[in-house]
Amino acid sequence: MRISVLGTGYLGATHAACLAACGHSVVGYDTDDAKVARLASGAAPFHEPDLDPLLREGVASGSLTFTSDIGAVRDAQVHFVCVGTPQLAGSHAADLSAMHAAFDALAPLLDRPCLVVGKSTVPVGTARGLAERLRRLAPAGDAVSVAWNPEFLREGHAVQDSLRPDRLVLGVESDEDDQLLRDVYASVVAAGVPVVRTDLATAELAKVSANVMLAARVSLVNLLAEVCEAADADVADLIRILGLDDRIGSQFLTPGVGYGGGCLPKDTRAFAVRAEELGVGPPAAVLREVDAINMRQRARTIDLAAAMVGGSVAGARVGVLGAAFKAGSDDVRDSPAVDVAATLQARGATVRVYDPKATENVRRCRPELTPVDSVEEACRNADVVLVLTDWAEFAGLDPVALLDVVAHPRVIDGRLTIDADKWRAAGWDVHALGRGAR
Ligand SMILES: NC(=O)c1ccc[n+]([C@@H]2O[C@H](COP(=O)([O-])OP(=O)(O)OC[C@H]3O[C@@H](n4cnc5c(N)ncnc54)[C@H](O)[C@@H]3O)[C@@H](O)[C@H]2O)c1
Repeated sequence: MRISVLGTGYLGATHAACLAACGHSVVGYDTDDAKVARLASGAAPFHEPDLDPLLREGVASGSLTFTSDIGAVRDAQVHFVCVGTPQLAGSHAADLSAMHAAFDALAPLLDRPCLVVGKSTVPVGTARGLAERLRRLAPAGDAVSVAWNPEFLREGHAVQDSLRPDRLVLGVESDEDDQLLRDVYASVVAAGVPVVRTDLATAELAKVSANVMLAARVSLVNLLAEVCEAADADVADLIRILGLDDRIGSQFLTPGVGYGGGCLPKDTRAFAVRAEELGVGPPAAVLREVDAINMRQRARTIDLAAAMVGGSVAGARVGVLGAAFKAGSDDVRDSPAVDVAATLQARGATVRVYDPKATENVRRCRPELTPVDSVEEACRNADVVLVLTDWAEFAGLDPVALLDVVAHPRVIDGRLTIDADKWRAAGWDVHALGRGAR
């Protein structure tokens, strides 16, 4: 099938490459010329395991092309819209300008029956408005249908999550659109992935609801961790006990510096705004607390760093290990690690940041944070070291070897990543959010 993908960022580039790998003829369109050029050369402009081989194969076979010419998508039978929906500046609402721009650019090209499928995360009710506008503007009018097919991929596992998702959510308005999407995803459906057919509104809500659940869970665990610290209880034991309860499970149950990235923070905020618009403001206030608890972890980490270096970080040398919002990704959007590093720097500390994959992105977005290329460079002469992303590389660090590198052996584990007992035995003063000096 001939398919177009509008917006080829983390979501769209992965989606385009995976659809091509499933046998479709795919054209990816983006307004960012540099991104298009890189993708057209068969390389992802970001770190995502397993994606480059798919891009290379698709581009080499001719089944996958990338362009910044919107006219090139004209012939597609199905158009997936994967543009960004970030937080609106000065507001907690979602910025839908890229979504509107993509639909408006597409509309005049639609002169034959086709299906336009939203994959981006949007506030509930967006799809209906977009569908009405598209039918008004498209030469083919009512022959153009709109569906919503939210994406649940996790950065770091994006290819695997796209080819074998936990579930496929098809928000459709007709049996024909449902069948067409099942044809697009024939190999996924054949593999036994559960398919949930639903309406547009429920499909829009699906992704943001999943993120709200995950965000709330992380903040609840951080609340439990703070109480553990105040009560001199052991949060590591506590989460093990909770995780062994089938009803609770063990994933997303690690206390620390909190969630970040291009999805959870903005989706939680946008959901609360939309709930208020729909007259469901009072219960949605819980999400403001979820957000506040999450941001509190960053502030607590900074306070802990100050306490460890004698009360103020002004003049202190700080080594920050980690910049990506989580291991497996180079994404530094709303990353707690970068936020903490920037605040420490703003308070007069000299900060050096190292990340196995995201150092380049720090260099591009926050050069003032002195991004460096190794753990040793980040830790050199440090008064305190902060581990803020859960990379396996940091779990495996040798605390004895690092003793000679730092000025003072003090470490804050913001992700419960390092083996605290081993580091302590090597002579380090180890603190972790929720664990105190345990
Ligand atoms: N990143 C994830 O893990 C993930 C997972 C699931 C859902 N999502 C959702 O997917 C959407 C995209 O997220 P992302 O992380 O890929 O963002 P991103 O910023 O990496 O990519 C967005 C892309 O859209 C392009 N774009 C902007 N305006 C455009 C236009 N008018 N026409 C064509 N392209 C345009 C940008 O140049 C960029 O390449 C968001 O709604 C996000 O919430 C993301």
